[in-house]
Amino acid sequence: MANKTSQPTIRLEILRYDPEKDSAPRFQSYEVPFQEEWVVLDAINHIKDQIDGTLTHRWSCRMGVCGSCGMMVNGKPVLTCGTFLGKFLPGPIRVEPLVHFPVIRDLVIETNDFLGKLKRVKPWIVRQEEKALSEGEYIQTPAQLAEYKQYSMCINCMLCYAGCPVYGLEPTFVGPAAIALAQRYNLDNRDQGKEERLRVLSRDDGIWACTLVEECSAVCPKEVDPAGAIQRYKVKGAMEWWRSILMPWSGR
Ligand code: SF4
Ligand code: FES
Repeated sequence: MANKTSQPTIRLEILRYDPEKDSAPRFQSYEVPFQEEWVVLDAINHIKDQIDGTLTHRWSCRMGVCGSCGMMVNGKPVLTCGTFLGKFLPGPIRVEPLVHFPVIRDLVIETNDFLGKLKRVKPWIVRQEEKALSEGEYIQTPAQLAEYKQYSMCINCMLCYAGCPVYGLEPTFVGPAAIALAQRYNLDNRDQGKEERLRVLSRDDGIWACTLVEECSAVCPKEVDPAGAIQRYKVKGAMEWWRSILMPWSGR
């Protein structure tokens, strides 16, 4: 599409909603200049800066690192800073907040549920006993780092929660990223918290709630593969269960 000055443009249809004022969400259309090097976030920033300052969205790094610019674009959860406008020619492009989360305003979602779930799996190094400083640092080889590196690439963008039909139906499900991050620490040779995490994730709202749709891994922009992490965890959980049946004296 082109405007009167022959500058190519593209139309964005953006979901607008202020729960304090609006009875229901509605789409609002904006015509923005089309530039090949622009990503969807550039177009939204253009609207905010040049057309409608009331539009509310969240972003920070503009380079796929902070994880804050996730939105539904034409029905798919994506990082808007990593998604080029040209992919959607000739438009229009529908932009909505990530599904499965409450909306605070327009494209900004409430993250408390995710952050609470993350905390439950203790995504940090748990030590039963600390070495004295005089004993030096905890040494890790490149092979030991490689064990968990893939899971450590998670940027907490929550696209996997928007892509997960189980989380959509059962909001108590702890969810893909929390499980992948639990694995990140379980596989770290400095950590001693895997039994605690397994206790949390062995419950009905943990690993067993996953029905292996694998959409979480398909939408992940960092190739973390949360679906793979969940399957590894299921094997471990099943082995621990059998151990507790066959060798009840061994503890868990
Ligand atoms: S696992 Fe991937 S999609 Fe899920 S929060 Fe982490 S980076 Fe985002
Ligand atoms: S703005 Fe930081 S990931 Fe997109």
